[in-house]
Amino acid sequence: MKGNGTVPLNELVATLRAVAEPSRVRLLVLCFRGELTVSELAQILGQSQPRVSRHLKLLCDAGLLDRFREGSWVFYRLSAGGAAAALSRHLVAACDESDETIALDLQRLAAIKRQRAELAAAYFRDNAAQWHRIRSLYIDEREVEAALAEIVAAAAPHDLLDIGTGTGRMLEILAPHAGNALGIDQSREMLAVARVNLERAGLANSMVRLADMYQLPLADASFDAVVIHQVLHYADRPDAVIAEAARVLRPGGILLVVDFAPHGLEFLRDEHAHRRLGFADADVAQWCRLAGLEPDAPRRLPGEPLTVVIWTAHRPAAAAGSLAAPGRARVSAGAPAVERVLDR
Ligand SMILES: C[S@@+](CC[C@H](N)C(=O)[O-])C[C@H]1O[C@@H](n2cnc3c(N)ncnc32)[C@H](O)[C@@H]1O
Repeated sequence: MKGNGTVPLNELVATLRAVAEPSRVRLLVLCFRGELTVSELAQILGQSQPRVSRHLKLLCDAGLLDRFREGSWVFYRLSAGGAAAALSRHLVAACDESDETIALDLQRLAAIKRQRAELAAAYFRDNAAQWHRIRSLYIDEREVEAALAEIVAAAAPHDLLDIGTGTGRMLEILAPHAGNALGIDQSREMLAVARVNLERAGLANSMVRLADMYQLPLADASFDAVVIHQVLHYADRPDAVIAEAARVLRPGGILLVVDFAPHGLEFLRDEHAHRRLGFADADVAQWCRLAGLEPDAPRRLPGEPLTVVIWTAHRPAAAAGSLAAPGRARVSAGAPAVERVLDR
């Protein structure tokens, strides 16, 4: 590839050859919509895994797809950079979604995603009451909580959002440093536990609501701090979660993502529904940048066997004279963001 994002003729023809087959175009269309495993892709295409693997290899060799291994699972996603990545996005955009084959693929993909969501929801339902016990199996959280409280206290947010609030633990720790705090979660059972905890803690400035982290029922630029604590490893599209969090962040606002550094503890996947075995700093930084945020240096809290990482990123402050949101000041026009959340 050249510096200006174009490719030499021979390379372009080779890339087009790699994709010039119906199954491979279908794979591109599917991988555009999320990170998928070979077995999921084989299930959707109705083809054997070895056959699908051969197609995937050709697409990876041509730079159209990225492949990454996590323990025993291998994921495929549309490649993130380079001229081939731009080309694959053009090809996906040009593909008619109402085509019979593509429409069926997308229906099957939706069914697989529903299945995944049901599995995760069932897990959380079964574990709502014991969640505090489960997390204590991994690491001592007190150090993490103190570090987060320090960061949020310095930011002094008017409106704070806790994505995947679970039992509301982050709200208990962080809401005292915010004007108003909202926790969202997709699990009614978790929210029931959170409500009890918030009441017990006397946190009058906090509320929780049922919502999906991929589609927050919240206005753009309506929070000064957004926290995603031990949630991202359940996401099949962590980049989309970060993009959605960034969308609701005001200029000058801060995003805090807390999760594990890459690890090999497969049992977390098998027994605790983790989809990702930790995250690389470079991936989180890239997702933040793509979402318009400026990543800071990550802070690592090593533990045995898991290391917790706190990744923070800021939305650049609005230029003087623009319609700036209140930023990190404790002043905000109109009703607090948490009161504008859709009631369900
Ligand atoms: C491991 S718990 C973490 C809870 C909390 N952040 C904490 O650290 O105590 C993960 C939470 O993410 C929630 N979650 C998972 N997928 C979600 C989604 N798509 N939208 C909203 N919440 C989700 C689960 O219901 C669960 O409560």
